[in-house]
Amino acid sequence: MMESKRPETIVIHADAPLQSTSAVAPPIFQTSTFKAQTDDEYLRLATEPRNDRFYTRYGNPNHSQVAAVVAQLEGTQDALIFPSGMAALSAAVMAFCRHGDHVIAQQHMYAGTHKLLEDILRPLGVECTFVDQTNLAEFARALCDRTRLVMVETPSNPLMKITDLQAVADLAREHGAATLADNTFATPINQRPLDFGIDIAMHSATKYLGGHSDVSAGVLAGRSDVIERIWPYGVKLGFATNAFDSWLLLRGLRTLALRVERQSHNAQAIAAFLASRPQISAVHYPGLKSHAQHELAARQMRRFGGMLSFELAGTSDRVEPFIRGLSLITRATSLGGVESTLVHQSAMWRSLMNDGQLKAAGISPTLIRLSTGIEHIDDLLDDLGRALGTRGEARLAQTNVRL
Ligand SMILES: Cc1ncc(COP(=O)(O)O)c(C=O)c1O
Repeated sequence: MMESKRPETIVIHADAPLQSTSAVAPPIFQTSTFKAQTDDEYLRLATEPRNDRFYTRYGNPNHSQVAAVVAQLEGTQDALIFPSGMAALSAAVMAFCRHGDHVIAQQHMYAGTHKLLEDILRPLGVECTFVDQTNLAEFARALCDRTRLVMVETPSNPLMKITDLQAVADLAREHGAATLADNTFATPINQRPLDFGIDIAMHSATKYLGGHSDVSAGVLAGRSDVIERIWPYGVKLGFATNAFDSWLLLRGLRTLALRVERQSHNAQAIAAFLASRPQISAVHYPGLKSHAQHELAARQMRRFGGMLSFELAGTSDRVEPFIRGLSLITRATSLGGVESTLVHQSAMWRSLMNDGQLKAAGISPTLIRLSTGIEHIDDLLDDLGRALGTRGEARLAQTNVRL
């Protein structure tokens, strides 16, 4: 373990003890299977949990390298890699919940997590209660002796609401329930849920950990006993992450700290700029003092991250001209890449949610979620300013918000 090292160093060196060749850049173990010299060795490789030289669905050296880096970034013992964030969530839920058990999750969180609980777990007999993450009393009321897992996401997608990690972890522990925090938006550079008593940190590594919009992956990090409990579920459910994607993920992780620092600064400046514009009716960013949970966010986050959302003043017909007016910021799903991207939230979810569900999820017709990239802040502000029709004012405004 390199726990005494800083994140900037961990991302470069944490996997070094696992490197088995003299190559400076780790080789790709592009193989589905590994040689055994004898039947005894074969049996050992096949039955030893977490062995990374038996069969790639069970493990692969490229998985172990990523796991070593993420586990140390999250300040814990072990991690598991999956082919997507949803695969990671599915394995965790399956490992903790049986028919008749109960799960608590948030009303506001990634819609795919809702769908997993509602469309797959509920029909299997796992009851789910969705609570307001900003109200601890709702967690306390929902907890019962059948609750096995409490799933939180902070900041949450897309409204950037904050969950009190320490308080939820304490409450869940009193009831013997495990806790999982989706740490995708914050990244371990800005927030480490296990420092507050959460059992599992989860990432859609497709986002910031990979960081270049070229890989789909997920990660769970936690104590060895927790990770060993989940590992067989990934194996049996068939969640095999290919070696090349794992290698790309490790390569992306090398620059995580640099990227996230820049993205957090860019998002803070953009949030302040947008909040000063009359064409914007609301900005959701925990780094703004006006955010209802700014103080809580400041207590548990190092910086406030690269994600924000905002609402255009007026009706939904304002959205399309605004997005078409942008030349740098690209309309695309996903987030956390080096390039700035945005999504009109109600357009994204209209196929899965009706108007009532969108309203209940807090998704107003003009809500836009922005993932800030690592471009120069002046160019991003110019792009936004031009699309809002405030050409020439953007730079001026930004000098007032320079961090
Ligand atoms: C917060 C959050 N969690 C989980 C996921 C699911 O991850 P993946 O798309 O890698 O399966 C996403 C995807 O957008 C997300 O934003």
